[in-house]
Amino acid sequence: MIRLMTDKSSKIIVTGGAGFIGSNLVDGLVNEGYSNIHVIDNLVAGKEEYVNPSAQLHKLDIRDFDAIVPIFQGARFVFHLAALPRVQPSILDPRTTHDVNVTGTLNVFLAARDGGVRRVIYSASSSAYGDQKTLPLKEEMEACPQSPYGLQKYEGELLARLFSELYGLETVSLRYFNVYGPRAASDGAYALVIAIFLNQRKKGEPMTIVPDGTQSRDYTHVSDVVRANILAATSSNVGKGEVINIGGGHNRTVLEVAKFIGGPTVFIEHRIEPKHTFADISLAKNLLGWEPQVKFEEGIQELKKMYDLTD
Ligand SMILES: NC(=O)c1ccc[n+]([C@@H]2O[C@H](COP(=O)([O-])OP(=O)(O)OC[C@H]3O[C@@H](n4cnc5c(N)ncnc54)[C@H](O)[C@@H]3O)[C@@H](O)[C@H]2O)c1
Repeated sequence: MIRLMTDKSSKIIVTGGAGFIGSNLVDGLVNEGYSNIHVIDNLVAGKEEYVNPSAQLHKLDIRDFDAIVPIFQGARFVFHLAALPRVQPSILDPRTTHDVNVTGTLNVFLAARDGGVRRVIYSASSSAYGDQKTLPLKEEMEACPQSPYGLQKYEGELLARLFSELYGLETVSLRYFNVYGPRAASDGAYALVIAIFLNQRKKGEPMTIVPDGTQSRDYTHVSDVVRANILAATSSNVGKGEVINIGGGHNRTVLEVAKFIGGPTVFIEHRIEPKHTFADISLAKNLLGWEPQVKFEEGIQELKKMYDLTD
């Protein structure tokens, strides 16, 4: 794979750069030497203190096209992560989540096109797959989202491809599979399972398992997702709206996750979610030269230390 030459002072935009993955990505870009990073985030979920001090934070909403469009002028890369990124809230409020996840995404692509941006790296989601008949999940499988969120994220991929075909804007969509790591939300009803469990352990509460814990997920460490984004920005193999799985390479049941963390468990009610996810990551290897590096055991141990859980 040929890496595109990148001037480290090129202007870079990270939407959602105050959130879990976005703020880790900004840190990753800063560590790689990028010096002109602009974060667009309305802080609905993100936190100002997560934004690396070398980046410039614009407290703006991606639904407000006129407000965001000037920032895109002259940017080279846009990493688009801003979203309302949970399944259950999208079922409760499909309209608001559509406005942010689809109309907001359209605004980002339009602003990128009009600002002369070279490439947009779109944060897509494994939720586009829904429940498929076979595993592992491969990019060529027909999308079958089971929630407004899954559908909305899938619409973003289609927009990415269209913008590449119609307007020559380089785009690539990375379908992340359950991302975990430092700064993942651990509070609220819809936080991700690993962070929920760690938080419950920290408070001395039992870990809540939904419904029997046999559903499995392919957990991906946030540092691997960050690396995939930077490779997707600089690889000469992509840019035409490709859709690429970014998964950890194993799938684990909720019961296994609870066992890894260790402690008492309790069972709670069912939610509409796919039974299993497990990524085929050969395309990411072929196109980006990317493979996950963080073993699940290591990622969990790192988090247990951060939560002061010693056993
Ligand atoms: N976390 C995962 O496991 C996972 C899996 C697949 C895909 N993704 C995708 O990755 C991206 C980042 O997810 P995350 O887990 O870091 O979530 P997050 O909620 O921590 O980050 C999203 C950020 O977007 C911001 N935001 C929300 N609405 C906005 C708006 N209207 N205008 C401007 N900013 C807005 C939030 O304040 C937040 O900082 C999302 O696009 C999500 O769909 C995440």
